[in-house]
Amino acid sequence: MITTPNLGYGLGLRSQHWDDVLIQQPTDVEWFEIISENFMNNKGYPQEVLSKIRESYPVAMHGVSLSIGSGDPVNRDYLASLKALADWLEPAWISDHICWTGINHINTHDLLPVPYTEDSLRQMVNKVDEVQTYLGRRILLENPSNYMEFSANTLSEWDFIRQLLEQADCMLLLDINNIYVTCFNHKLDPKAYIDSIPAERIGQVHLAGHENHGTHIIDTHDCHINEEVLALYAYAMRTKGQKSTMIEWDSNIPNFETMLMELKRVRLFSKTENLPDFSHKKNSKSTTTEPNTAYNELMHLFQSCVLNNIKPQSWVNDKQGFTAVDQMDVYRFAYRKRLFDSIVEEYPQSRSILGIDRFDLLLRTYIEHNPSTFYSLDPYIKGFANFLKQHSPEQAEVALTESIISELRDQPQPATITLAALAKAGPDGFLSLNLSFTPAAKLTSSLLLICKKLQVYRQPLTQLEYAGLQAINSTESLEEAMQYLYQEDFCTAETALPTIQTLLSEFVPKGVFTSGQIENMTV
Ligand SMILES: [Fe+2]
Repeated sequence: MITTPNLGYGLGLRSQHWDDVLIQQPTDVEWFEIISENFMNNKGYPQEVLSKIRESYPVAMHGVSLSIGSGDPVNRDYLASLKALADWLEPAWISDHICWTGINHINTHDLLPVPYTEDSLRQMVNKVDEVQTYLGRRILLENPSNYMEFSANTLSEWDFIRQLLEQADCMLLLDINNIYVTCFNHKLDPKAYIDSIPAERIGQVHLAGHENHGTHIIDTHDCHINEEVLALYAYAMRTKGQKSTMIEWDSNIPNFETMLMELKRVRLFSKTENLPDFSHKKNSKSTTTEPNTAYNELMHLFQSCVLNNIKPQSWVNDKQGFTAVDQMDVYRFAYRKRLFDSIVEEYPQSRSILGIDRFDLLLRTYIEHNPSTFYSLDPYIKGFANFLKQHSPEQAEVALTESIISELRDQPQPATITLAALAKAGPDGFLSLNLSFTPAAKLTSSLLLICKKLQVYRQPLTQLEYAGLQAINSTESLEEAMQYLYQEDFCTAETALPTIQTLLSEFVPKGVFTSGQIENMTV
């Protein structure tokens, strides 16, 4: 008998709500799901928040980069980071998606559909086995929201998933909205889809909002859950038993009160017995005249269609009102939009100084010519600073500052010294004090950057301030820092001490310094 605990009703933990959760400690939310990648290799404020929340709530890890369906081998670096996070967090479970994110070590940072063939099933079963052995636990895999149909498919999505769950001995993260989206796009019956999933293999449920474009639906996670999706959810819980359920809301994220109201709505709807009639949906696979194309070859075709804007050929099934080109356009646009929006968010000042048109043109060029090769978006976003440096040298400094800002948010924020603690060293001990920057503070050539929580403060510096701060940070004692300043003619031997004292009285209260010699207390 396979069991996964029913944790009740939960929410996706998003940074916009961290303070609300820490202050309110809401009892209506029984558990949280995190995006694993947001906390991997991160010792900064995000980990501090997660550690506090974990003390009061069960937490599940949900990843987006395992790429279990890719023809590439499993990324062992990624897996090691995932396991390190799990060993620290002790999550209720770990999940990812039935998808691939790229092949040939490219990462599209999108959840791409796998061909539903015996060949891909066999490869995926082997990889799930490898991952579960490495992690030492069963994983949950989520049914995707699907916008295209390979003409090579020989299995329905639900047959593929059922066989995957049984042959790989893993669990399903049942995303009801994804079922609704996929069934709308491919004219399938969502009720029949749910009926075909074995109840004991369902470990968790996702609910989310979507956007209906008439000919197809896109899984946007940016609005309230559609009522038909909720009715389908109630049907699933009635027939499969109650499962841990949570809401994913990832764009246009509302305030926390709205999230609590939405969770209340889910609880109320879980009792409804009205299910829309989906029986007019066909449930039959579209006819195909094409021979089966090998699994890896299909991925290469798919990827070049997304990256190089190549039109899909007969390996994608045309559908009435939703052509093969339209289907692949969903992925082509989503790929570019995700990368574009992520970079725009991190480079506001560069965009404002360069002008939106020029910045956007450079950014589009960067995206078209530099596919991502990392499982995390962070290095790709930072790489844009180098690109700007080459193509717009006058912007190099600003772009570099913005890329440092995004790095600072991942740095630990330990307690820093206060003026009162500094005074305790007394006149004799003062000159031998060794102060250094907290990891959350950094100098650029003209700015001091300090990260507090997720906010990065920028302070313009005079030449003297820059030299003084650098001297205090890089020398072994305040006396050495003074010597440096007067040897480099920033002051005289007589004014070196008051110069250092003035700098410390200005910057210590800002939380810039730590010291192993005196007590660190957060300012
Ligand atoms: Fe989902």
